[in-house]
Amino acid sequence: MVDGDKSAFLVGEASHGHHQIELSCATCHTEPFGGTEVLQDACTQCHQDELESAHDSHPRKKFSDPRNADLLNVLDARYCVSCHSEHQKDDTLPMGVTVSDDYCFHCHQDIADERESHQDLDYMSCGSAGCHNYHDNRALYEGFLTKHAQEPWLDDIARIGQANYASGHASKSREQDQKAEQEEGAVESKAFHAENPTQHAQWSQSVHEVAGVDCLDCHRDQQTSDGWITEPPMTVCSDCHQNESETYQQGKHGMRLAQGLSAITPSMARHEFVEGSGDLNHSCSSCHDSHDQNTQVAAVEACVGCHADEHSTNFVDSPHGHQWQQFQDGLIDAEQAVSCATCHMPRMTVDNLHAGFALKEWQENDDASAEAIEQSVFVNHNQNDNLRPNEKMLRSVCMNCHGLPFAIDALADDALIQRNFTGQPEAHVESVDWALDRLKPNKAE
Ligand code: HEC
Ligand code: HEC
Ligand code: HEC
Ligand code: HEC
Ligand code: HEC
Ligand code: HEC
Ligand code: HEC
Ligand code: HEC
Ligand code: HEC
Ligand code: HEC
Repeated sequence: MVDGDKSAFLVGEASHGHHQIELSCATCHTEPFGGTEVLQDACTQCHQDELESAHDSHPRKKFSDPRNADLLNVLDARYCVSCHSEHQKDDTLPMGVTVSDDYCFHCHQDIADERESHQDLDYMSCGSAGCHNYHDNRALYEGFLTKHAQEPWLDDIARIGQANYASGHASKSREQDQKAEQEEGAVESKAFHAENPTQHAQWSQSVHEVAGVDCLDCHRDQQTSDGWITEPPMTVCSDCHQNESETYQQGKHGMRLAQGLSAITPSMARHEFVEGSGDLNHSCSSCHDSHDQNTQVAAVEACVGCHADEHSTNFVDSPHGHQWQQFQDGLIDAEQAVSCATCHMPRMTVDNLHAGFALKEWQENDDASAEAIEQSVFVNHNQNDNLRPNEKMLRSVCMNCHGLPFAIDALADDALIQRNFTGQPEAHVESVDWALDRLKPNKAE
């Protein structure tokens, strides 16, 4: 448990989800020889909120029920490590799963017997055909499928409007600007403006200029409270942009920073990247130029400055990429365009970090209070929040523009994802048809 290089003790490479923190042993093994309970605490520490907001279909409490005790003899589903072990990279399935594909069988044999539609299905397919997930079934419940089953593939512009609505808080601007002018800092800053014409020119075009965030608001040495630091650390941004920083540190871009480790660089990662990008340390300025803060550059150009896998490079020539180009050319509104960030960094409300803005609909379905939803909106900086299983994108992203049947098929088609959604889906998720079928009066299944 002492400091120092622990690579010699690593019993096997970590899974795709945790490889960035694999040498930080004490993150999971918080006590040496701690065993399953200690590991369980570590898992829930980091993942509890995410699973709760996904309305986890198999929470631990379901298995504390004595009536389910016999199920646990086969597979003890109270513990995460029963299905997500570590240090076995070669035997680990996508999403860190280390239990065999047909494990649903242990507990749900009855379904195959009771439901006509399910009779000839392979247990391998329960969790892989786009029909069910183990944890997150928010977009897959029967009621949800039937409610949205008749939607056309592409919706009218009116609904498209919701996807990219402008971030709602630029209005404080002028007032703050004037206040800042009166403060000492602004006067002090004047010299720096004159000395650095390039940065001054970029900054003058930025939202920070409008909001009265001056050079010294970022460049002041926070320890001594005066003086000039050349490279302001991320904590400077976090002080003013808490939600963005917090979510940034929950995903693959910032998870090392959350553990006090050095930032991730492409050369340490397991994806394909642009040649020459290997040494770039990830930080806010990877996407946001520190002085001009142009969010359009951040939404596509910045990403493809690093990511060079097939899916990423295919974006530019995809139908969504063409929409994005039309927006850049001023032909359509921001709300109608799709960028990398539209899918990977959707907007969400402050109160509910994981539910995204599909929250409203969800709460209405749950009959919970639909009040207190008009909070401010911000961009979720955790690219992993809706990434896997990818049905998470249905509610928070695709369904703002597309109908459910089209979008669910598109997300089940791996080749289509590789082409970054160029073309119609060739996969078909049948559960939508079955759900509709069961609504027919003569079906008593
Ligand atoms: C992301 C969390 C995580 C990190 C980080 C991590 N481990 Fe583990 N480790 C686990 C899990 C989960 C298991 C499996 C427990 C099980 O299946 O019962 C495990 C098992 C082990 C075992 C027992 C292996 C066996 O075959 O029984 C050892 C030894 C071990 N880890 C050492 C380390 C060392 C050393 C490091 C740092 C170099 C490390 N671990 C980092 C999660 C982690
Ligand atoms: C320090 C926080 C932390 C701890 C402790 C931790 N994880 Fe994670 N885990 C993460 C992050 C960050 C990711 C990557 C982002 C993501 O996929 O959501 C991740 C990813 C995952 C994934 C998804 C992998 C994928 O490819 O989508 C699973 C499953 C997972 N963790 C399970 C566990 C289990 C089980 C434990 C306990 C043994 C555990 N985690 C411990 C932070 C943690
Ligand atoms: C009975 C097996 C099983 C158990 C127990 C289990 N998981 Fe999972 N988990 C899965 C499967 C299968 C997936 C793949 C996606 C899916 O089907 O939902 C998954 C996916 C995940 C993911 C990826 C993101 C997501 O929302 O699906 C995370 C994170 C995760 N599990 C964390 C945990 C944690 C933390 C625990 C313990 C509290 C846990 N899991 C217990 C089977 C299990
Ligand atoms: C260890 C036993 C166990 C395993 C393994 C298991 N389940 Fe379940 N599942 C349960 C129990 C218990 C319930 C709750 C039953 C109830 O409420 O009637 C449940 C409920 C469900 C539900 C209804 C969820 C809801 O919120 O209404 C679905 C869908 C489901 N499971 C699918 C799956 C799929 C798909 C798999 C495999 C990927 C799986 N289960 C694996 C025990 C298990
Ligand atoms: C929003 C915070 C912020 C504001 C406001 C800001 N800077 Fe910076 N500046 C940074 C960061 C962060 C860096 C570190 C280099 C990088 O990553 O771009 C930096 C770097 C610099 C550098 C080093 C050369 C370079 O461009 O990397 C100079 C010179 C500079 N800033 C001048 C200024 C001047 C003059 C102003 C006011 C007109 C200003 N900055 C306003 C955040 C800011
Ligand atoms: C003194 C507070 C403060 C600091 C420090 C600060 N910002 Fe800001 N930032 C603001 C305000 C105020 C706005 C205006 C919009 C708003 O209210 O969110 C803004 C807007 C932004 C925007 C939105 C631009 C747009 O076009 O909508 C980005 C991106 C941004 N900041 C990034 C950063 C980064 C990166 C850093 C650190 C290098 C940083 N900010 C430091 C206060 C700050
Ligand atoms: C992976 C690229 C990336 C990184 C890294 C990144 N951002 Fe952003 N950020 C974006 C994109 C893209 C948008 C605009 C998304 C859109 O308009 O659809 C954005 C928007 C913003 C906004 C304005 C919208 C809002 O949420 O109110 C702020 C403020 C912001 N980022 C701050 C930060 C801070 C602070 C950091 C570092 C902790 C950071 N960003 C790191 C890509 C990034
Ligand atoms: C400075 C280079 C850099 C930039 C810029 C960047 N990324 Fe990343 N990205 C990475 C690295 C490194 C990883 C970690 C991959 C790993 O752990 O294997 C990553 C991970 C991801 C992941 C998770 C992949 C997974 O399998 O879990 C997604 C999604 C992603 N980035 C999307 C984006 C988007 C969208 C943008 C632009 C808004 C962007 N990235 C900008 C370097 C970058
Ligand atoms: C229409 C929505 C959409 C757009 C636009 C989009 N992606 Fe993705 N992206 C996805 C989906 C869906 C996945 C697959 C998730 C899964 O099933 O593993 C994905 C996966 C990824 C991954 C992980 C790849 C891997 O091998 O695991 C990265 C990195 C990524 N996207 C980056 C980007 C970048 C960069 C852009 C823009 C150039 C972009 N994406 C545009 C939806 C989108
Ligand atoms: C902001 C609205 C918007 C969002 C969000 C969006 N799309 Fe699209 N999508 C469009 C538009 C508009 C087109 C048609 C572009 C054209 O025909 O030029 C399109 C085209 C497509 C196509 C290509 C159809 C073809 O015949 O070539 C696929 C596949 C697709 N979208 C899937 C998705 C998926 C999956 C998601 C969610 C991950 C998604 N889209 C999110 C607006 C959107």
